[in-house]
Amino acid sequence: MRFVAPASSVVGHIGLPGDKSISHRAVLLAAVADGETRIRGFGRSLDTEATVAAVRVLGVGVDEPAPDELVVHGVGLRGLRVPAGPIDCGNSGTLMRLLAGLLAGHGGRFELTGDASLRARPMDRVADPLGAMGARVETTAGGAPLAVEGGELRGVEHELPVASAQVKSALLLAGLYADRPTAVVEPHSTRDHTEILLRHAGAHVARRGRRVDVRPTERLSLGEVTVPGDLSSAAPFLAAAILLAGSELTVHEVGLNPTRTGFVDVLARMGARLTVLHRRRAGGEPLGDLDTRSSELVATRVTPREVPRLVDELPLVALVAGLARGTTTVRGAGELRLKETDRVEAVTGALRPLGIHILPADEGFRVRGVPTRPRGGGVVRARGDHRVAMLGGVAGLVSREGVRIEDDEAVAVSFPGFFDLLEAVAQRS
Ligand code: S3P
Repeated sequence: MRFVAPASSVVGHIGLPGDKSISHRAVLLAAVADGETRIRGFGRSLDTEATVAAVRVLGVGVDEPAPDELVVHGVGLRGLRVPAGPIDCGNSGTLMRLLAGLLAGHGGRFELTGDASLRARPMDRVADPLGAMGARVETTAGGAPLAVEGGELRGVEHELPVASAQVKSALLLAGLYADRPTAVVEPHSTRDHTEILLRHAGAHVARRGRRVDVRPTERLSLGEVTVPGDLSSAAPFLAAAILLAGSELTVHEVGLNPTRTGFVDVLARMGARLTVLHRRRAGGEPLGDLDTRSSELVATRVTPREVPRLVDELPLVALVAGLARGTTTVRGAGELRLKETDRVEAVTGALRPLGIHILPADEGFRVRGVPTRPRGGGVVRARGDHRVAMLGGVAGLVSREGVRIEDDEAVAVSFPGFFDLLEAVAQRS
């Protein structure tokens, strides 16, 4: 249990660990690339360490010359070895789903498992389309443990029923091994880090509207990957800076891929003062520095189309909306119920006792904002969900009485140093 006391403001210059989505992808692609890949800015966390452990179990050498630098000795597209036991994906849906896609192109039987939260999440969404490509994927009542028996794959066209970058990525990775091009059509655009990295590795990937095509390939080669800071880890700091009067915070070298910047756009629409400085690119990924000042906010509507661009930041949208003038609605976010926890329940359950007027809905939530500090004083139970633990931390800073967070260690899933950095920028004079 941890107590986060109220703060008057947040001030400072910060950098974040490397983007989790890109770190996972860099390790997985490097594992099946030819030769050595150096990954700089690797975002170390329990989730990404599970990916490193997984590729090692599959026969890939990984050196760690520095905490945020890896050298991966790729075994080639068809070089992963069947391990003696199941592969433990920990808490990571990204790892389990993307790895299932890669293994679908390998002969042999691979078993994938994870913690209780991951085992409860839907895996038929990858098992069914990988099956249509010719792999045998057995789920456990639609979830994990999962057994993947791959081999000869057919390139097919998949129309995804839900917008999911994890499912899209699994199918694009399997498409590398198919006998002809594979197409994935998404209902709304989702993060495109897999596409960017595949192109960087020499694969042919093309997007036309909501459709992404990938051609089969014989080899991948990455060489070097530089991972920008994780905007999802920056988001709690942005929220705190905007909500606390007198704040001035600059977040340096953070990823600004437009498929990920929904939270920044929503904040700007609500009236937040956010400026992007030094826009640049690294390995096809846009990045820059984000300068934030405290601001008075008005309510907004988050539409279904926007949801994939801020899906992991929706818990913070709920908190920010709680202090804005007017009623904010979030629609088309049914996927939130299938994350590390049911985040509609987890977020409403966490914020209501703190004095935020939030009501759950099937596919999202509605928040009646009151532009003043919420009472706080309660306990946020993270129940293993890193994003809920971080939400509790920001709620503590902006509240009148502070917030206790149960299972605060959950932040290590994506950002082990989260609370240290939060305390470093919090001003309490
Ligand atoms: C991720 C995609 C999103 C996101 C998750 C990471 C990824 O999930 O919530 O934290 O790295 O592809 P879905 O694509 O399943 O919505």
